[in-house]
Amino acid sequence: MRTEPPTSAAARPEPMTVGVFDSGVGGLSVLRALHRELPGARLVYVADSGYAPYGERPRDYVLQRSQVLTEFLQAQGARVIVIACNTATAAAGQWLREHYPDTCFVGVEPGLKPAVTASRNRIVGVMATQGTLASEKFQALRRPLEAQTRIVTQACTGLAGALERGDPQAGEVQELVRRHCAPLREAGVDTVVLGCTHYPFATDAIQRELGPSVLLIDTAEAIARHTVTQVRRVHGALPSPDAPDGVSAYTSGPVAVLEKIAEAWLDFPMSVQALP
Ligand code: DGL
Repeated sequence: MRTEPPTSAAARPEPMTVGVFDSGVGGLSVLRALHRELPGARLVYVADSGYAPYGERPRDYVLQRSQVLTEFLQAQGARVIVIACNTATAAAGQWLREHYPDTCFVGVEPGLKPAVTASRNRIVGVMATQGTLASEKFQALRRPLEAQTRIVTQACTGLAGALERGDPQAGEVQELVRRHCAPLREAGVDTVVLGCTHYPFATDAIQRELGPSVLLIDTAEAIARHTVTQVRRVHGALPSPDAPDGVSAYTSGPVAVLEKIAEAWLDFPMSVQALP
């Protein structure tokens, strides 16, 4: 019987690895878009659920965790890392770029500019964590836009933590959405930015509370398209769509919880292990 000679490691092209991290399960909204835009890439996701939520924590805490997760993803071979967390981007994005110049970081920020462009009545709401809204980065984003538009911010305390438990239909989530949407509705917003990657998983409840005419802005697709540009720049090419891709995830929280959430929220398989 003839057997094929084994492919040597040297002959096998190195998979293009893109690392993605978030405080927990919110970044799965970005991972979903990345999986669509980058077939053939190896995607490695880290959910820092054991240390979530980040949004109500001091900046140094978020910075230190972002550093740990970055070094883990670098060790996995990622040269492009998506910080799929508005809070971590605001707290640590610049620091990570300065300290790891050989890694390309793609950050996320609340989609305030597209919201201002889309708004007809010039009243825009932003739902985000306390950490994101208090950051210098968000203040700098908001300042030049305020001349033309009223920007109403809502720190959605507790909402990311509630979504970490994996059930967007839970009474606790519905109650928090109700509480945080009320001031935005009263302010008369016609466009609302989902400024935390956890919130797209509560889109139905948010839309219900704000009303069907309010436009919700989520930047996951735009982030995924920007990541494609960065992968092409860093690797000089895009992965072949036929390359055997694979999505693996690591969590600092319970493995079974992330497995269950991934199964319910993603339309592709993802293997989950404990973050070493
Ligand atoms: N998903 C994160 C964000 O985009 C943070 C949520 C949290 O951990 O508080 O801001």
